[in-house]
Amino acid sequence: MKLVGIAGSIADQSYNRTLLNFIAKHFEGLVDVEVLDINDVPMFNQDNDQTNSAVIQNLSKKISTADGVIIATPEHNHTVPAALKNVIEWLSYEIHPFDGKPVMIVGASYHTQGSSRAQLHLRQILEAPGVNAVVLPGNEFLLGKVKEAFDENGDLKDQNTVNFLQTTLQNFIKFAQVINLISKTEDYEEEDLSAKEGTDTTIQGVDMNADDWLDQAAKKVHAVDGDTYVKLDSGLLTVNQLDYFLKTMPVELTYVDENNQFIYYNKTGSAEDMLAKRVPSQVGDALDKVHPKISRVIKHVKQVINTLRTGKTDLVSMPVPGGDESKSHVMHYYKAMHDEEGNYKGVNEWAVDIKPIVDQYLHETGQKLVKDPNAEIDATSGASEKPEVKVDVTSSASKH
Ligand SMILES: Cc1cc2nc3c(=O)[nH]c(=O)nc-3n(C[C@H](O)[C@H](O)[C@H](O)COP(=O)(O)O)c2cc1C
Repeated sequence: MKLVGIAGSIADQSYNRTLLNFIAKHFEGLVDVEVLDINDVPMFNQDNDQTNSAVIQNLSKKISTADGVIIATPEHNHTVPAALKNVIEWLSYEIHPFDGKPVMIVGASYHTQGSSRAQLHLRQILEAPGVNAVVLPGNEFLLGKVKEAFDENGDLKDQNTVNFLQTTLQNFIKFAQVINLISKTEDYEEEDLSAKEGTDTTIQGVDMNADDWLDQAAKKVHAVDGDTYVKLDSGLLTVNQLDYFLKTMPVELTYVDENNQFIYYNKTGSAEDMLAKRVPSQVGDALDKVHPKISRVIKHVKQVINTLRTGKTDLVSMPVPGGDESKSHVMHYYKAMHDEEGNYKGVNEWAVDIKPIVDQYLHETGQKLVKDPNAEIDATSGASEKPEVKVDVTSSASKH
């Protein structure tokens, strides 16, 4: 499970950050915790909206894509420090990454109360409508007399305290799994497969569902072709070379952008010869046009895309057998793509026939497959007939 930690202090030496770092280190096998930095967050001011600044966007993205958040709050004047409240104000103004997000509160203070008053206030703040976090109920981890609590390595000295922290964390893991499972089943409905919203790379003024979208759109943007060079992240190829390369891939590739528009496939052969039967006139189509209008199928496609878009997982795989016997072991993989800032950029789908690989392995190792009489398999259904998304709710983008 991928969590992010926020310490409500911007002091260089913060005990609350030490506590989060200890959780990240000591419970590494249990959770994957990334401790976020709030030091550079500007002071909230409605008249100077900095929601789009890199620092706010980064915090928002990390929170949105995490399975949960742990906030470690100090106590200042019987409440949360201004630095923490400031962050929450930014994240409940124009954007709402805490909405529906499971949150666990912990805290450390110099005195015996262990930030108890700040924690109660934080609970109320997080439950305000604009924030709308889902705070773990009934569990409090209060670390009083914090100056004596850690050793020189930043580890909690008292074993009973560590054990109690572990119990609270385990309760939070179960809580977050349930909350995320509930929200996952609802989120997908927002996916717009008609792609009408558009994105910054959507080519305007061309009907995306037109059969000759590729020619029209290429003309509109003066797209290069032929022997013109294209500089890639780690290479320099002409457009022709890029085509030769992609067409001879041992997998069939499809590019669906973040606007749910199908903008590319590597045409490895005629539709009949391909594992997934794509035709050139489909290029540019919105996703609702390239899938059968069967509610079960549409729901499935939305679920897969939303799971990838929201970062609940970054890879979904499923068997999609082709029509004839020779295409009965085809796997489809759907991988989320991101830009350098981590923004979702669409789906890289690849289809591959795994039978030759399995055959080769069996041949090389002198083994053969034997039927498992207890196995429950459905060898006849395809994705469009019987969709089934297998998403591991405990996995996260960072683990793939
Ligand atoms: C302005 C200010 C007010 C404070 N008020 C309280 C308080 O009301 N209750 C308390 O237990 N500690 C109070 N403290 C001490 C805090 O316990 C301590 O600064 C903080 O929790 C340490 O967390 P940190 O090391 O993560 O910054 C206060 C500290 C400051 C600077």
